[in-house]
Amino acid sequence: MSGHRIEANFLRIVKVQKAVKESPSAKTLFFKDGLCAHSMPGQFVMVWLPRIDEIPMSISSTHPDGLVSITVADVGEASRLLHKKMKNDRIGIRGPFGNNFKLVNGTVLLVGGGTGISPIAFLAEKLAELQVKMTLLLGAKTKEKLLFLSRIERMLPRSKAKMFVSAEDGSVGHEGVVTELAETLLTKERFDMIYACGKELMLREIFMLAEKHEIQLQASLERLMRCAIGLCGSCAIGKYRVCVDGPVFTGKQLREVSDEFGRFKKDFDGKKIPV
Ligand SMILES: Cc1cc2nc3c(=O)[nH]c(=O)nc-3n(C[C@H](O)[C@H](O)[C@H](O)COP(=O)(O)OP(=O)(O)OC[C@H]3O[C@@H](n4cnc5c(N)ncnc54)[C@H](O)[C@@H]3O)c2cc1C
Ligand code: FES
Repeated sequence: MSGHRIEANFLRIVKVQKAVKESPSAKTLFFKDGLCAHSMPGQFVMVWLPRIDEIPMSISSTHPDGLVSITVADVGEASRLLHKKMKNDRIGIRGPFGNNFKLVNGTVLLVGGGTGISPIAFLAEKLAELQVKMTLLLGAKTKEKLLFLSRIERMLPRSKAKMFVSAEDGSVGHEGVVTELAETLLTKERFDMIYACGKELMLREIFMLAEKHEIQLQASLERLMRCAIGLCGSCAIGKYRVCVDGPVFTGKQLREVSDEFGRFKKDFDGKKIPV
């Protein structure tokens, strides 16, 4: 392991500087950490909750004053406890881990679903700094669950970006799933790169579209994680370990593991289960 990776793997206890409710089920926690302050979109931290669990969370923003954030959806025991954290509470972190989305020039499409919007919003800000021409497609179950709409809308006028949204209940934008927006758009417009983050079934759909239209893809995957440093194998997908080889994978890499991608993952006991 390189020196930087060893340093990143040390547990640090950080104080929550700010906690912001983003939606009925998502909350952003801001903290200060020297290593994470330099992280890039796609990278993640392991968040330690003593006696409960340690769970992976994408970095959702970094700021010039050293603040870093994660955005947590309450889905189970550990994430629910994270939701209860308030200013001045403490959490344990290791990281940042994993690779990041590679920034490209040209015309790009960003697709985010559910909490997958969190690293996509961070990425959009980095691409906007480079004046990259981008279209964002964001989807969630309901309007309230669409994360960072105002954060992204603030960015649109000062960048060359367009945004379309979908909600499964029809409360805003397209009624349906975000992959339907992508399917329609890709029949009309040409892109040099697709960036995507969301549930694996959504990512598989986007992968199929990228293959059909012969567009390069970078997709950030979620798998069960324990060690985050490539040792335990719980995050394996084919020959790759998502924690160290990903979480961002190219279309070419996903093609190599297409018998598992969007089909099977490992459960807590290491058994292969359907995604
Ligand atoms: C690289 C990466 C980045 C992530 N970024 C975010 C993020 O920014 N925001 C966010 O809300 N969530 C994120 N997740 C998912 C998050 O880690 C899980 O939702 C969390 O671990 C659930 O823990 P729990 O104890 O609250 O729920 P549990 O009760 O353990 O499980 C609830 C659900 O989450 C799934 N899950 C449980 N543990 C994990 C795990 N370690 N990895 C993946 N899935 C799991 C279970 O299969 C189940 O469907 C990320 C996952 C990965 C791998
Ligand atoms: S989480 Fe242990 S190898 Fe990836």
